[in-house]
Amino acid sequence: MTTLEDYLEMNAERIDKVLHRYFGDVHGDLFRASAHLLLAGGKRLRPAVVILAADAVRKGSSDDLIPAALSLELTHNFTLIHDDIMDGDAARRGVPTVHTIWDEPTAILAGDVLYAKAFEFICFSEAADAAKIRAVKMLARTCTDICEGQSMDMAFEKRHDVSEVEYLEMVSKKTGVLYGASAAIGGILAGASPVQADALYQYGVNSGIAFQIQDDLIDLLASSEASGKDRASDIREGKQTLIAIRAREKGIDLAPYRRELSGAEIDDLIARLREAGVIDQVRAVAVERAGIAKQALSILPDSEERRLLEEIADFFIARGN
Ligand code: IPE
Ligand code: IPE
Ligand code: MG
Ligand code: MG
Ligand code: MG
Repeated sequence: MTTLEDYLEMNAERIDKVLHRYFGDVHGDLFRASAHLLLAGGKRLRPAVVILAADAVRKGSSDDLIPAALSLELTHNFTLIHDDIMDGDAARRGVPTVHTIWDEPTAILAGDVLYAKAFEFICFSEAADAAKIRAVKMLARTCTDICEGQSMDMAFEKRHDVSEVEYLEMVSKKTGVLYGASAAIGGILAGASPVQADALYQYGVNSGIAFQIQDDLIDLLASSEASGKDRASDIREGKQTLIAIRAREKGIDLAPYRRELSGAEIDDLIARLREAGVIDQVRAVAVERAGIAKQALSILPDSEERRLLEEIADFFIARGN
């Protein structure tokens, strides 16, 4: 029996190797900018979900589906490059962001290149044409949802009355659906029935919501050395995270913190939020979503891959980066 930790390490190595083969030797500013973040590492969790979902539906099927796993990583990296422009962030994966090394126009185009390549790569998979068409449709729909989620994320910065229901819709779209698509596309290309594909989608969306809640906690609680990203970027930008919403309910106003903060100021804010129970409450919502995600998998036959998918949902809310 493989532990999840070993599995994820092996998966990241395999994905890194293939990415280096395709993107390690590119020429010209635009293509080097496209490859920069891809080659900087990352947890490669979406490819892991594609592969495990495929093998949970039909053991061994993922061998033909590595380009589809890459496709989901390419989509993810496209959204990250654009997200860093929107959020004004300088670091990701421990390296400077694309728009800070090059410039915003180059970063927009670098993201666009990966967006297009994602659709090209999904077509490279060895699967029935009808399954590939379903997968391409799902990826297209997912990208539209992500744009809507990101649009909500930005619009919420101007509001002070965002509800938990609105937050959940926003994170479901900006983050959940890409995990939903990862799981469902893996399943579809492996020959999943519509019921199985739907269950995998529900698993992915709910675990992705839990993942984003944990990301919001990491933004505040982890050092930039640990996360590889700008610390307290959400607080600086006035993001309406569940942390901000629950803090407001407890009478803690985050507006005065909407600026560059010192380490001591961040520590002071964390202490206030902990004392008010905000951090524990936010964690509890993530735990609940991970539970819903795991429950959705119960219609799949028992297998080691299904077990690893269940463990991934727990890992999403336990991780430190
Ligand atoms: C970061 O995703 C963006 C979010 C959706 C919160 P990851 O935490 O999976 O980033 P990498 O791929 O490991 O860098
Ligand atoms: C990003 O959410 C989600 C997408 C990239 C679509 P965040 O803005 O919280 O992600 P990080 O923290 O910058 O990775
Ligand atoms: Mg961001
Ligand atoms: Mg963002
Ligand atoms: Mg974040």
